[in-house]
Amino acid sequence: MAQYDVVIIGGGPGGYNAAIRAGQLGLKTAIVEGRGKLGGTCLNVGCMPSKALLHASEYYEAAAGGEFAKLGIEVKPKLNLPQMMAQKAESVEALTKGVEFLMKKNKVEYVKGWGRIDGAGKVVVKAEDGSEKTLETKNIVIATGSEPTPLPGVTIDNSRIIDSTGALSLPEVPKSLVVVGAGVIGLELGSVWKRLGAEVTVVEYLDRILPGTDLEVANAFQKILTKQGFKFQLGAKVTGAEAGAKGVKLTHEPVAGGDAVTIEADYVLVAIGRRPFTQGLGLESVGITPDKRGVIANDHYKTGVDGVWVIGDVTSGPMLAHKAEDEAVACIELIAGKAGHMNYDIIPGVIYTKPEVATVGKTEEDLKAAGVAYKVGKFPFLANSRAKINHEGDGFVKILADAKTDRILGAHAVGPNVGDMIAEVCVAMEFGGASEDIARTCHPHPTRSEAIRQAAMGVEGWTMQA
Ligand code: FAD
Ligand code: NAI
Repeated sequence: MAQYDVVIIGGGPGGYNAAIRAGQLGLKTAIVEGRGKLGGTCLNVGCMPSKALLHASEYYEAAAGGEFAKLGIEVKPKLNLPQMMAQKAESVEALTKGVEFLMKKNKVEYVKGWGRIDGAGKVVVKAEDGSEKTLETKNIVIATGSEPTPLPGVTIDNSRIIDSTGALSLPEVPKSLVVVGAGVIGLELGSVWKRLGAEVTVVEYLDRILPGTDLEVANAFQKILTKQGFKFQLGAKVTGAEAGAKGVKLTHEPVAGGDAVTIEADYVLVAIGRRPFTQGLGLESVGITPDKRGVIANDHYKTGVDGVWVIGDVTSGPMLAHKAEDEAVACIELIAGKAGHMNYDIIPGVIYTKPEVATVGKTEEDLKAAGVAYKVGKFPFLANSRAKINHEGDGFVKILADAKTDRILGAHAVGPNVGDMIAEVCVAMEFGGASEDIARTCHPHPTRSEAIRQAAMGVEGWTMQA
């Protein structure tokens, strides 16, 4: 029976980054993955395939929707959906193979099969052919990720009523698509199919989109999406959905009370959140009980059972790949006797639509609720020369700083490329930076990043270019 320092269950961004760090630190490590490919939700059915379709559909729309023509490029694009899907699949395959290579490079053993904890220090792996083997280990890291949350009364058949995985592989462009949930998945994948020609209606329970995001940014983003043709039914409770051969009848009623409405659509995408995945994991064998949402609690990645650790979507915190990755590093460093640490106040969030939405730190609503005195600096992309020349003037950057110390408390933006640009603010925040630090840092011209600098100047009231 093999004896390991660490056995990691789950090969997603949490698991594979934990494996790499463990390998780097000289720990004898195995990673157990049941789906037949490494990379988890993120590489196989999440971040990466969705970004492949967002990228391709953005070009298609630019060509079909008149943006190219405005630039003096006249083309008549023809959609080749099978090729769009094939290039997505090829990129995903290359990425998962890349992770497999990284396992070899870092001397991590990749064990294919579903892992089950079988008491302290033991993981039983069941391979596809039904055979089982036991791995003995000093430490187990649970990194089993998450799955879509089901909507009571609505059965996902992944034919007409689909989840995010179904929406990444539709066989045709729907004429009409109803998205249940105005969250990240609904707006990203809704954008993909909208750009390719679908009429998209988003049905959301709350009276706003993107709960948790800075309200001013969310409201501005909703206006931009509406201008793009999205329809929103906010404050609407879905009461049922009936799938037929050619489409779905979805019924909803106002949360505040009122008459039920039935909408017909070719497809319904249910994207109302994700929940931790721990099925068949054998948690009971070591006495771990997830909470009622399925979350395995942790204290510095320790589960409360000696030698059993937990990271990523299956534990508390935002369900984001980079959060799982940072937890992986911190957890393994703690296992190796180092000072593993992660800063939960600085986890950026990005929505990869056009324009993008990017946020980090506290929202205005957070600061008001906590009674923190803060100052705001804002800058519109219409006044940013690069955005203006590219006809990308929608959106703005907002920097929030402590009223007394000027320390940056948050940054929120909707606009071109803000997903890449937010990293600048993250670094400044990690160094305890003030808005003045960004305002007095030379930024390249002409770039959209100057909008961040101008917003930072605005905290002290000296924005120069608007
Ligand atoms: P996962 O990636 O879910 O990996 C867990 C792995 O464990 C899975 O491969 C599963 O098969 C395996 N597993 C589970 N149980 C067992 C077992 N018992 N034995 C063996 N293997 C097991 N996040 C971002 O940051 N940016 C994005 O752009 C983004 N886009 C997304 C788009 C979509 C459509 C979706 C669905 C998610 C997206 N996410 C994004 C979220 C991101 O995918 C997750 O936060 C991330 O994958 C979590 O990593 P993880 O390692 O915790 O879990
Ligand atoms: P989400 O939590 O982002 O949004 C779910 C939305 O559904 C919310 O607006 C919520 O109010 C609404 N909702 C909940 N129940 C409802 C109901 N019964 N009827 C109507 N609306 C309802 O979840 P989503 O979009 O499913 O994404 C899951 C996770 O995946 C997120 O936590 C996100 O972090 C991650 N993800 C991240 C991406 C990124 O970083 N770019 C991209 C896609 C997913």
